[in-house]
Amino acid sequence: MDFLKHLHQIQELATLPTVALKILKLLEDPNVNVNDIARLIETDVAISVKIIRVANSPIYGLRNEVYSVMQAVSTLGVSRISNIVVGVALFSKFFRTTGKQSEYMMNFWNHSTSVGVVAKTLAAKLKLNFNEREFVAALMHDIGKLAMIEYFPQHYQQTVQIVEQEGIRDTEAEQKILGADHNQAGGVIADMWQLPADLREVITTHSDVTQAKVDPSLVAVVRIADLLCEMWGASIHEGVVQLTIEKEKAWQVLCGVKPELKSLDIEAFTFELEEDFNKAKTFIEGARS
Ligand SMILES: [Fe+2]
Ligand SMILES: [Fe+2]
Repeated sequence: MDFLKHLHQIQELATLPTVALKILKLLEDPNVNVNDIARLIETDVAISVKIIRVANSPIYGLRNEVYSVMQAVSTLGVSRISNIVVGVALFSKFFRTTGKQSEYMMNFWNHSTSVGVVAKTLAAKLKLNFNEREFVAALMHDIGKLAMIEYFPQHYQQTVQIVEQEGIRDTEAEQKILGADHNQAGGVIADMWQLPADLREVITTHSDVTQAKVDPSLVAVVRIADLLCEMWGASIHEGVVQLTIEKEKAWQVLCGVKPELKSLDIEAFTFELEEDFNKAKTFIEGARS
């Protein structure tokens, strides 16, 4: 089976939800303003409701509750809200809780949102301002796996089994079963959606951060969060059974950009993860229905 070729033929996978596509287009205009973004979001009632709910979730820690899209946009700013919209739209399109894949799907979103929240916390600690890009990049980083779960559930299940049985990493298992890994599958999807280069790069290089060229620190932040989530309770069987974070390429790349990372108390950081996982759950609740 030519897995990557099959992906090209799945109609449902071919486009991102309209509002997300339009937002990504709008962001290319350097003069885009609060009104443009608010008006666009308001054209989609379901997304608007979710945006207000997510904006009020503990992830953003707003002091005063917001009641309208306009308030949400002016409080959180154009870039942050736009990235949240893309994340929520993606989530709405691919969240399913029925059928036999539902358990994998639930794990997938739990993992992706947890990586998002942990990436946000890590970026904040390192004073790296990605304007919420780290959150949406994290939500998308394993999008290739989502396609496996949704459209090739049996193959996906086999990859999970051999990850467990043979103690190999997920990418290796996927190559064995499907002839391509989730980074490559994600690249196909990123091209279909015409995603911006930085998001595409996180999807295609997070398993080997040294390949990143557009924004290596963004990829590294997402990958470190990814590894921590795999290790400490928001796993989707990526085959990370032992982790010496200092030996990971992502850690080394990020230390090159932010030397203060070397003094981060990683043990203390892992103790804070539980709180981030809880925040991730509130995002899922806000974005799913
Ligand atoms: Fe991954
Ligand atoms: Fe992951």
